[in-house]
Amino acid sequence: MVATSSSTASTDQIRLQLRSWPEVETYLERCKGVIVPLGSTEQHGPTGAIGTDALTAEAVALEVGRRTGVLVTPAQAFGMAEHHLGFAGTMSLQPATLLAVIHDLVLSLARHGFERIYVINGHGGNIATTKAAFAQAYGTAASRGLPNAAALRCKLANWFMAPEAMALARELYGEREGHHATPSEIAITLQLEPSLLSKHRPLPEAAPAGPIHGPDDFRRRHPDGRMGSDPYLATAEHGARFLDVAATALSGDLQRFLEEPAG
Ligand code: NI
Repeated sequence: MVATSSSTASTDQIRLQLRSWPEVETYLERCKGVIVPLGSTEQHGPTGAIGTDALTAEAVALEVGRRTGVLVTPAQAFGMAEHHLGFAGTMSLQPATLLAVIHDLVLSLARHGFERIYVINGHGGNIATTKAAFAQAYGTAASRGLPNAAALRCKLANWFMAPEAMALARELYGEREGHHATPSEIAITLQLEPSLLSKHRPLPEAAPAGPIHGPDDFRRRHPDGRMGSDPYLATAEHGARFLDVAATALSGDLQRFLEEPAG
């Protein structure tokens, strides 16, 4: 089950999109693990990119893939963002839809012999639904009689909740990290897409975090889309640091996940 060679893989080697099916079969002879980046397409305050959660999840996933040699699938860029639908540009999957998408993707991978599905997530709103999808996928794998059903394991890794990433956010931003359109995630997007710096400007203090209900309630409580955050604190240099600490934490977590015995 061990993933890799000792050296760092190149990005094109670990992108599933660029592999042929015989190459995937050969890969499965040495590794049953695969990384699925999961994001969201939703508002990130008046200065943040709509694609923030998908961009960050994919960037962390590709860096973890480079470091471990584990294949990375295309990003699932749409997530559960119902509460952000009060802001233009947000595109959401209902929880039941996202559950079906994740379930079907896991079953597709399991059918080919993948046994360790590692989802790198960039959006808190996806967590509950993704875990529910894993539970359903285990049941379906067994009921369909997949030969590897008993060995199938799925794991959700939220890069922004890795203790090392949270510690760095605390050190750089303190309370102004907030809970949505956070400087840590915005920093990564600035590192990835320098054009986003043109939107970067100081903002008035954000509404504090609070309970999340429907889209109208969210917009009323959080009129500019942010929850307690100050994204203007973000820099591209911070973004490189967040990518590094998140990739370090998740690469170790992934290696342990791959080595876990199934029985
Ligand atoms: Ni986000």
